[in-house]
Amino acid sequence: MKKPLIAGNWKMFKTVDEAVTLVQTIKAGVYKVTDCDVVICPPFTALAAVSKILADGPIALGAQNIYPATEGAFTGEISPIMIKNVGCRYVILGHPERRQYFHETDDFINEKVKIALKYSLIPIVCIGETLAQRDNRQFLEVVKGQFDQSFADLTKEDILRLVIAYEPVWAIGTGKTATPEQAEQMHSYIRRLLNEKYGGEVASRVLILYGGSVKPDNIGLLIRKPNVDGALVGGASLKAESFSQLVVLAAEQSKVEARK
Ligand code: 13P
Repeated sequence: MKKPLIAGNWKMFKTVDEAVTLVQTIKAGVYKVTDCDVVICPPFTALAAVSKILADGPIALGAQNIYPATEGAFTGEISPIMIKNVGCRYVILGHPERRQYFHETDDFINEKVKIALKYSLIPIVCIGETLAQRDNRQFLEVVKGQFDQSFADLTKEDILRLVIAYEPVWAIGTGKTATPEQAEQMHSYIRRLLNEKYGGEVASRVLILYGGSVKPDNIGLLIRKPNVDGALVGGASLKAESFSQLVVLAAEQSKVEARK
C-alpha cells in the first residue's frame, strides 16, 4: 500500500479566526502520525493565516481552486502564483461543486491542471458521476470522458505529479457513501485507464482518493480496498476530532498493510 493521503476540503466554511483555531487543534491531534500524508484546503481568505501555523510541520496546505492565468484582469479570481506565494503545495481542481454551480467544463479544468503543474503545484483533480448517470449505468463512460478531457495532452511525468479524486456527486454531503465495493470498482477502472494511457508503472504510482461522506466510521473499510489510496474529506474535515481520527485510522491501516 502507498502512504495514504487524507485531504480536508473546508469548502466555504470558517472565518480566519475559526480557521486558526481549527488548524491548531488538528496539528496537535496528528503531530505523531508519520504514516499518512495530510493536506488542508481552507478558503482563500484563511490561507495566509493557516500557512503560518503549518509552516514548521508536515501538514501541507492546499487551495480549492485557481484561475488558469498567471495574472490579469480577471476580477474575483486567484492565480496559481498567488496561492504558491502564500505557501500552497496542492490545489483542488474540477470539484463537482465547481462543475455544477460554476459550469466548469473538462476543457477548462484541463487548462487549470496544466497551469498548476507549470507552477509546481500538485493538482487534486476530481472526477465522478451524478446520481442520474449512475442510475442509467453510464458512470464508467462519464468518468472516462472526464478523465480523457481533464488530462488531455499530459505526459507521464505530469500524471505522476497529480492526484486523482473520485467524488461521486450523489455521495457528497448527503451522508450516502459509495460502498467500499462501488469505490473500488471505480478506482480500479481509473487505474486501468491510467494503465492504458501511461503504462503500468505510472498507473501503480498515482494516488486515487475517494471523496463523498467519508467519516471515521467508514474510512477503515474504504481504505482497505487495494485501489483506494486516501480520501478527500468535506464535512468531517471541519471538526478537529473527526479529521484527526481519519488521519490516525488511515495511518494505522497503512501499517497493517505494510506488515502483511
Ligand atoms: P463530504 O465529505 O461533506 O461529503 O464532501 C466531500 C467533498 O466534496 C470533498 O471535496
